[in-house]
Amino acid sequence: MHPLFKERYSGYSFDKNKTVPFSLLKDVLNAARWAPSCYGDEPWRYIVCHRGYKAYDKVLSLLVKPNQKWAKDAPILIVSVANYIFDKTKKHNRWAGHDTGASAAYLCLQATASGLMAHQMGGFNGPDLILHFGLPDECIPMAVIALGYPGKETPSKRARKPFSHNFYDGAWGKGLKDEKEK
Ligand SMILES: Cc1cc2nc3c(=O)[nH]c(=O)nc-3n(C[C@H](O)[C@H](O)[C@H](O)COP(=O)(O)O)c2cc1C
Repeated sequence: MHPLFKERYSGYSFDKNKTVPFSLLKDVLNAARWAPSCYGDEPWRYIVCHRGYKAYDKVLSLLVKPNQKWAKDAPILIVSVANYIFDKTKKHNRWAGHDTGASAAYLCLQATASGLMAHQMGGFNGPDLILHFGLPDECIPMAVIALGYPGKETPSKRARKPFSHNFYDGAWGKGLKDEKEK
């Protein structure tokens, strides 16, 4: 496996004194563009908010309190939004959330590759965010992503569930055995 996948982590400490150069922000957003999507529709939308501007303060205030505590040190907050209507056909796109999540994952991985940290959050007031930004009915905010340089912290020990919990061997519920477990 490429080491980048394990290097990426959702930390709680941002270096509040360091801003993200525009060239790096562009790399991170460009990576999000190159995710695959159903019919190539690219249903993701991102609202990029920089510290020092009203939009940032608003998004920060819409986070649940425990998220506000650490996210306030991130110089950029990005709202990811899924558009559930296909651009071309105007029909319902039931894969919009799936594709927007994939795009956000690309964004996070590029952040790590660029020496930054991206931490996604589902803990925010969705209805108020929709109202504030005037999102159309077909658009659902998926996450707020804090982006910046990592601060000083020892990341907690990260682990994943065993293979057999998430991967099945040709039948529903029949856990796939990791080579080591076999
Ligand atoms: C959709 C989504 C919502 C999340 N919401 C929050 C959140 O509200 N607050 C938080 O601290 N972390 C949140 N996380 C981060 C997860 O807790 C984290 O990804 C998970 O624990 C795995 O850790 P890792 O990203 O370091 O591998 C969220 C992640 C995702 C993908």
